[in-house]
Parts: sequence; structure tokens; C-alpha cells
Amino acid sequence: MLVVKTIEELKEIRKGLNGTIGFIPTMGALHDGHISLIKRAKEENELVIVSIFVNPTQFLKGEDLSTYPRKAEADIKICQMCKVDYLFMPEINAIYENDEVLIKAPQNSYVLEGFTRPGHFDGVLQVVLKLFNLTQPTNAYFGKKDAQQLALIGQMVKNLFIPINIVACDIVREISGLAMSSRNIYLSVEQKEEALKISKSIYMAGNLISKGERSSKLVKNKIYEVLAGLDVEYVKVVDKKFNEIEVIEPSNTIILVVVRFGSIRLLDNIWM
Ligand code: PAJ
Repeated sequence: MLVVKTIEELKEIRKGLNGTIGFIPTMGALHDGHISLIKRAKEENELVIVSIFVNPTQFLKGEDLSTYPRKAEADIKICQMCKVDYLFMPEINAIYENDEVLIKAPQNSYVLEGFTRPGHFDGVLQVVLKLFNLTQPTNAYFGKKDAQQLALIGQMVKNLFIPINIVACDIVREISGLAMSSRNIYLSVEQKEEALKISKSIYMAGNLISKGERSSKLVKNKIYEVLAGLDVEYVKVVDKKFNEIEVIEPSNTIILVVVRFGSIRLLDNIWM
């Protein structure tokens, strides 16, 4: 595996690459969720490129940019073990030098995650587009855990005619059910225990729907019952365009839950 630190080096390497390329953009502190994306890319492509870049433009003022977990050494080892071909770890200044051309995420980026974090998705799309242009992959892999991010990237690729196939990957969970996240390390043992209510609540919702329940209101109320005692930021039942729906259509429904533990936000969701 080659660790690539500069844009010039990456551009030079990319010129010489042929065959299918799978790309996984990440912010590092790699866990089994990231690894599942890398493994899938390994299976489906001749070469795999991973990027690790804690992207400042997607953090709002007061968010955890300065304390976001950074584990470069361990991440490099993980990528080596996964037989990644190129690991791109650029410097902030190299990615954002005198940026004047910006990307504006569409209107539906200001609901749900974008309501709490206005502008967050502008930064996500900006960096993902830059990384796409540098790596020019055949396939790019994203987790369903960040459902809205995945949808907006799909929309960007479509709207801007970017010739990259976006591959949606299932959520990887700890044995307990907790969705894996780089931010889980901030949780105390007690908080981790309490957080199990989140996956329980969405499994329960999934069961209700597979047994025929179609009322969003009822499903949401049941979720809130399971989440009792937690600081719930939102429970939403939406279609795949992120419009809230009252009647559940099983093939076109995502249930999203966000719970806060102090400043830590835990996201989870289930795609029906
Ligand atoms: P990061 O949070 O590091 O996530 C990188 C990718 O891993 C995303 O596509 C995310 O959805 C996926 N992922 C995270 N946890 C997962 C889990 N438990 N199961 C499956 N996939 C999971 O998302 C970002 O970074 C950034 O916003 C990025 C796209 C890199 C742009 O900066």
C-alpha cells in the first residue's frame, strides 16, 4: 500500500492507473463500518483508494472539529491489512487553497441533519466532489448510516453528470446493536448501555412495519416509548427523498433517529 500525502503525487499516480477503481472517502478513526466499505470495494474493483481527511468545511462553529478522533497510525495499519492500494491523506491547505468556487447543497439538505447543522452538507459535497475529481473512481462507497449524506451525494452525481457509480452499503453494528461510529469512543460505559435503546427502537419499528403497520405517527410514538429517558433530537419517518410521510410505503421508507448524549449526537436509521 502506498500512502499518498500530496495532490501532485496523487494526480501523477492516477494518470498511470487502469482498470476499475473503488474509492472510499473517510474522516479516519476507522472502524468495522469503514472496513466493510473497503472490503466491498476490494471485491468489486481492481484497485482501491481510501482517503482520510477530517474535512473542516463540514463542521459548524462550536462542533467537534478540533477534538474529532485522529488515529493516523492505526488507520494506516488497518488499510494495509485490508490490502488498500492507495491511502490518500492530504493536508487541509492542499485541499482548500483560495477556494472561491463553492458547492451549494439543494433545499432538502436543510432538513433533518441539515436543520441541526445548516451548511454541513455544502461542506460534505464540496470535499467529496474534490476527492472524486482527484481519484476519478469507477465506484464510490458510502454507508447508509449517513442516509441523507448518501442521498445528497447521489443527487450531486446525477445533477452534475459525474460519471461515478455510488454504492450504498448497509450499516455495520456492534454485537450489542449500536451502530458503529467514530464518535462512539466519546461515550461512557453507562451512556453506551443507554444508547442500546436506539437500535432496539428502530428494530422494533422495522418489526411493526413488516407485520403490516402503516401509520408513521403510531410507529414514531412506539419509538419514543422505547427511547424514554433519552435526549431525543428527532424521530422521523421519511421517503427516500427525505420528505416526511404519514403513511408508510415499505419499499420507500427510511426511519431516522438522532439522540444526544451531551454534545455527542448518535444517528441511526433503518431502510425499509
Ligand atoms: P466518516 O464519518 O468517516 O464515514 C465514512 C463513510 O463510512 C461514510 O460513507 C459513512 O456513512 C460510512 N460509515 C460510517 N459508519 C458506518 C457504519 N456503522 N456502517 C456502515 N458505514 C458506515 O461520512 C464521512 O466520513 C464524511 O462526511 C465524508 C463522506 C468522508 C466527507 O468528508
